[in-house]
Amino acid sequence: MTQMEELLAAAIRELEGNKDIKALETWRVRYLGRKGALTEALRGLRALSLEERRTAGARANEAKATLEARYNDMLLSLSAEAENARARASALDISLPGYPLAVGHKHPVTQAVEDLQRIFLSMGFQTADGPEVEWDYYNFEALNIPAEHPARDNMSTFWVDAKAERPTLLRTHTTSVSARMIESRKPPIRVIEPGKVYRYEATDATHFSQFTQVDGVAVDKGITMADLKGTLYEFSRQYFGPDRKVRFRPDYFPFVEPGVEMAIECAVCHGVGCRLCGESGWIEILGAGMTHPDVLRRGGIDPEVYSSFAFGIGIERLPMLRYGIEDVRLFFSGDLRFLRQF
Ligand code: DAH
Repeated sequence: MTQMEELLAAAIRELEGNKDIKALETWRVRYLGRKGALTEALRGLRALSLEERRTAGARANEAKATLEARYNDMLLSLSAEAENARARASALDISLPGYPLAVGHKHPVTQAVEDLQRIFLSMGFQTADGPEVEWDYYNFEALNIPAEHPARDNMSTFWVDAKAERPTLLRTHTTSVSARMIESRKPPIRVIEPGKVYRYEATDATHFSQFTQVDGVAVDKGITMADLKGTLYEFSRQYFGPDRKVRFRPDYFPFVEPGVEMAIECAVCHGVGCRLCGESGWIEILGAGMTHPDVLRRGGIDPEVYSSFAFGIGIERLPMLRYGIEDVRLFFSGDLRFLRQF
């Protein structure tokens, strides 16, 4: 019995001296293992009398349970310590505040296009899409601009293949998509067509080789100029606010007759005249008109039965006017200092 108590005391003393898990394992093998001291001691009980064996056996089992429990506690605390040490060593301090996530937002041109989609949707216009590499046919021919027509000069074209039997180009306006709509859809048609357009032009503060337009076209029985004006007034009212004055003046586009341009009152001088509006008090934002009967006919729509209006809005001008941006190139610069403002 004395030996047993001594063994227990020594085991506990040694256990507490263990500094790491490897040493603890050596300890376990030495005392609790199959050939360990305690197992040996238990085996030694066989030499005792039945009476002695009962008390000593009970005590030995108690000792074993004590050692096992102490061993488990020790294993847990050493594991936790090891885990902490690993965390400290890996230089990862999980208590530090995280890095802020950079959340982006939509490009101001995308925002303007989506504003327009919402506004025209409220008037029953769907959105449609068309190719940026376009047939000469839809960009020009279908719109009453045959080869050699002077209007082609105003639309400096990037040709993809000018010599082909069916020439291809980068579309110079999204009116090409209106031509496609007239050809492919059945009236009543009410659709807007946002997209990128391209012009082979010298670049300056108000010109860039790529920009964005939203064209629109409506075809139905009995459509008149009043519908066109009402639709565009409503667009201006929703986009620029109810107080902004709107002006229509005659203009010429080969694919409409009559053709108009719409201007809004200058936001800076309110019609008095300033640098932004070129002293006129007005800023032109779109071209429009009643779709030419030949354009409808070419698309398979009978102009004796149906009439149509169309319009084309330059998109970059809208945020330029709204925010007073003076250089269109900023939209395409990818400069975050500019873009983050919107
Ligand atoms: N396509 C013309 C341009 O890029 C704008 C335009 C004028 C579009 C009149 C139209 C329209 O749909 O009816 O300058």
